[in-house]
Amino acid sequence: MALFRSLSALSRRNVQQQKSSPLTFVRWIQMQTSSQDTDLRSQLKELIPEQQERLKKLKAEHGKVQLGNITLDMVLGGMRGMVGLLWETSLLDPEEGIRFRGLSIPECQKLLPAAKPGGEPLPEGLLWLLLTGKVPSKGQVDALSNELRSRATVPDYVYKAIDALPETAHPMTQFASGVMALQVQSEFQQAYEKGIAKSKYWEPTYEDSLNLIARLPLVASYVYRRIFKGGQSIPVDDSLDYGGNFAHMLGFDNPVMHELMRLYVTIHSDHEGGNVSAHTGHLVASALSDPYLSFAAALNGLAGPLHGLANQEVLLWIKSVVDECGENITKEQLKDYVWKTLNSGKVVPGFGHGVLRKTDPRYTCQREFALKHLPDDPLFQLVSKLYEVVPPVLTELGKVKNPWPNVDAHSGVLLNHFGLTEARYYTVLFGVSRSIGICSQLIWDRALGLPLERPKSVTMDWLENHSKKAASS
Ligand SMILES: CC(C)(COP(=O)(O)OP(=O)(O)OC[C@H]1O[C@@H](n2cnc3c(N)ncnc32)[C@H](O)[C@@H]1OP(=O)(O)O)[C@@H](O)C(=O)NCCC(=O)NCCS
Repeated sequence: MALFRSLSALSRRNVQQQKSSPLTFVRWIQMQTSSQDTDLRSQLKELIPEQQERLKKLKAEHGKVQLGNITLDMVLGGMRGMVGLLWETSLLDPEEGIRFRGLSIPECQKLLPAAKPGGEPLPEGLLWLLLTGKVPSKGQVDALSNELRSRATVPDYVYKAIDALPETAHPMTQFASGVMALQVQSEFQQAYEKGIAKSKYWEPTYEDSLNLIARLPLVASYVYRRIFKGGQSIPVDDSLDYGGNFAHMLGFDNPVMHELMRLYVTIHSDHEGGNVSAHTGHLVASALSDPYLSFAAALNGLAGPLHGLANQEVLLWIKSVVDECGENITKEQLKDYVWKTLNSGKVVPGFGHGVLRKTDPRYTCQREFALKHLPDDPLFQLVSKLYEVVPPVLTELGKVKNPWPNVDAHSGVLLNHFGLTEARYYTVLFGVSRSIGICSQLIWDRALGLPLERPKSVTMDWLENHSKKAASS
């Protein structure tokens, strides 16, 4: 009933917006709650032929349409702004932030089913939304929760592969090694070896993807308990959903921490296709590498400090501020500390973005969570002060395109508040969540028959000659 009310409210809002933006309304029509069939795979099977037709028509009718000019700056500048990938599950607007299948984060919080009324969205609901483009009912989400739990078994050799590494190995190294060991069970690889037809590729890809998503919390929590809790693992709790269970297996049973994990996994899942982890997963999968191989590659990109490792860097940086200046640091002192970081040649972690040009809505929803559940936490108050102090400093620096905070500026203090204090582990949480976006798109890559990715590269000679010719013509 609550879902129906919020759907009606959102529908009314979209009808009001219709005059100014017909596209918004079209999007809304596509977002209507799906039929009550609780089997995700059969829903997908129904959707695939129509999307295949849509892509075929697009190519046939508009294949030669220009999508922009490629400049030399773009080639040398990390391909910023260059349209080059098809990514169905989410789209990033520089000003507004991410939309998952057309829904903003506040809309997802309103529309996706929660564990309790008014609570944070269940990540299973987001997985359903990303895969089908439709808002699931609570019954559909509960069915998917059950399905993921039934797939959540990890062979012993995976744990042994992790145990072969020293405990001092970075948690991301241990996690990615565990994912590589899971690959032994790939159904896609087995099917390919038996000569499966191209039209059926998506089916074992779906099986691998759901198995992978289901198993990652077990592998990730094993890594956490191994490194930080003396190796005592905690089994799955059959009464809990995906996010709640993940928090439980890590060793956290505070209901607010379960809510935080649901929100965390939901908002970190997908950020369109060009970011390092998503793009890596997509690229590797385009060689028909199975979901395990593709996702392990994505994790290795996520482990870089300019990408997913920034959440670790933020908390360590915040703690260094406290160690040096105390929790009651003034804004003036904080400003000096930010300048000291910049002058030592480092970036201020958690600020800036390759695409966004405003405060990241993933930051905003975490801030709202903090205001609701931990307003007096001293590190949250420090994060709030940073929100005031850092953007003007980065603007003054003159070269930073986006001085505003990103998702990583906030997550650490929330986790730290509930006892997950080990910053080196944070990127693993991000990794578990990212599987939902990357695997959803990967299933569609195979369903749509997307080809091997192979962009053209050129040398400096080539660029110089081309530029000379362009200047003289
Ligand atoms: C995210 C990030 C890698 C985007 O990089 P980008 O697209 O190249 O960003 P810009 O175009 O704004 O960079 C222009 C310059 O500003 C610098 N800059 C950008 N963000 C900065 C920050 N937070 N602190 C200091 N300098 C920063 C860049 O390093 C670059 O300097 P250079 O020309 O000397 O190499 C960058 O903002 C950054 O390093 N942020 C901190 C790490 C972080 O939070 N990562 C998580 C992202 S979700």
